[in-house]
Amino acid sequence: MTHILQVFVISEKVLVTAALPYANGLLHIAHVRSTYLPADVFSRFLKATGRDAIYICASDDHGTPIEVNAAKRGVSPEEHVAFFRKKQVRDFKDLGIEFDFFSRSSGKVNREFSDFFFNTLKEKGFIEEREVLHRFCPKCKRFLPDRFVKGTCPFCGAFDQYGDGCEECGKIYRPVDLLDPKCAQCGTVPVEKAGKHFFFKLSSFSGKLKSWLESNNALQSEVKNYALKWIEEGLEDWDITRDAPYCGFEIPGEKDKYYYVWFDAPIAYFSSVAQWAKEKGVEFDGFVSGDAKIYHFIGKDILYHHYLFWPAMLLGVEKFSLPFAIPTRGHGLLAGKKMSKSRGSFITVEDFLKEFPADYLRYYWSATTSYSMQDGSFFWGDFQRRVNDDLANTLGNFVNRTLVFVKNNFDSKVPEILKPRQLAGAEKEFDAAISRVAGDVFSAMDSGDLKKGLEVLMDFVRECNKYFNDSKPWQLVKEGKDSSASVSVSLCAKAVATVAVLAFPFVPVSSRDIWSQLGFSSELEKVKWGSLKSLSVGGLVIKNPKPVFKKIEDSVIKKVSRDLGGA
Ligand code: MSP
Ligand code: ZN
Repeated sequence: MTHILQVFVISEKVLVTAALPYANGLLHIAHVRSTYLPADVFSRFLKATGRDAIYICASDDHGTPIEVNAAKRGVSPEEHVAFFRKKQVRDFKDLGIEFDFFSRSSGKVNREFSDFFFNTLKEKGFIEEREVLHRFCPKCKRFLPDRFVKGTCPFCGAFDQYGDGCEECGKIYRPVDLLDPKCAQCGTVPVEKAGKHFFFKLSSFSGKLKSWLESNNALQSEVKNYALKWIEEGLEDWDITRDAPYCGFEIPGEKDKYYYVWFDAPIAYFSSVAQWAKEKGVEFDGFVSGDAKIYHFIGKDILYHHYLFWPAMLLGVEKFSLPFAIPTRGHGLLAGKKMSKSRGSFITVEDFLKEFPADYLRYYWSATTSYSMQDGSFFWGDFQRRVNDDLANTLGNFVNRTLVFVKNNFDSKVPEILKPRQLAGAEKEFDAAISRVAGDVFSAMDSGDLKKGLEVLMDFVRECNKYFNDSKPWQLVKEGKDSSASVSVSLCAKAVATVAVLAFPFVPVSSRDIWSQLGFSSELEKVKWGSLKSLSVGGLVIKNPKPVFKKIEDSVIKKVSRDLGGA
């Protein structure tokens, strides 16, 4: 409990970011699992515990796939990006993913920031020009960057890998390193052509990166070990140029040369903060330099970029703070299979939300996603079981039976609560459990383990149900022991209020519903965890209680698994 009171006073500045989604398709539920949901839960948690936190993201508008897909749809890259960005913004909103600012990587401010990074790194000698060989498809008449060439991984020998990195072993390499190359579009064996490119000297940061990784205890050790192993094996300098045609920022003073998408994308974290700060009229530096705590939420497929490239860029520029933590989670699978657009096995957020409330997905992923690189599957049966058992039968049931009891036996008015020293036995114990739970959930979540925080909370809700069962307020009323019943039921009402506050980061819509059914007219999002101790429920007038969660029927699960896929 001391933690909560401490941070309540500190009010530190925290920047939470989520990896920028490519504006090149619809969001699917796996994106939500690794990145957007955990970052949203965490930022809501930070705000509720008194930190000065902002949650920032942007669309990633650059890269070859966008240029090619736009051409396929017969629209300009700008139109293509605007089309998907709009849908993603809508999906985020419908999911309750609440960014303080959602910018775009192709915006003017990000261009200025990108040029600043480029020029600074170049002046300091960390970017240099080199003449290198590139793969060129004689049939398509274009250079084959990244995803435009396929072949065998030079490190692990996996077949059918893209030119920018191996999905099997996670290594990043150059398209020219790929063995048995073929043009991904037409299958032609490419030829090699020489050209001038800019390289970021990643290798010269090996020592600094190593000591940053080793000294920062907030980084997940599992992920850190990957990065340290890569450093040990030797870092290659990084080609940050792409040739026309390319959807990106043209490099100042160069012709037909562009920044590689992964150069300007992470920079958009900061340029977005700058725009947010300008709009709000607050200072920008506090969130990106000095004591700012920066959390970048990502999926494990982009850990190389976030644990090595981006920190090295920051170390080179020497103006901003390095990430405090880079929470990395594994992939979302659909019944054991990788959810991927190219493989056609995925459920879009849009389709999902046509069938179920956002909180059901938020609860499911929060309850099943560990703070680790482990992948996790979405299973319809498991989803149904968790919604029905945990949300409806456990959480919803406790709330509903408490409120209905107040309505039926106390004229809808929550009885005044007794002072802890007036309580004894089971009542005293339950009251102590209510006071304890915020601190326990806090400890888990503050260390980044959101799943553990939710488990602690749900264990508490089970304890609440047990208390309700054991104290039998209905029996007490029947026996005319109204004052004993009122003690029991006022404690339950206090527990309901506490649960609404603590569950808010996970299931915001349902928590608000609980809060208003309990009779509060204040805004739930303004309630700080540090003030829970003095929260009073006595005298609240219960609104007409209705179940917060609806159970999912077998027939519905049958239908959606048939329509949306998965098992
Ligand atoms: N644009 C880059 C990120 C740039 S950050 C400076 C990107 N975009 S993405 O749209 O492909 O992915 C967005 C987020 O979703 C990333 O955190 C990524 O790791 C995550 N996921 C993408 N596919 C995923 C799964 N199948 N499962 C879980 N998360 C996945 O990467
Ligand atoms: Zn490989």
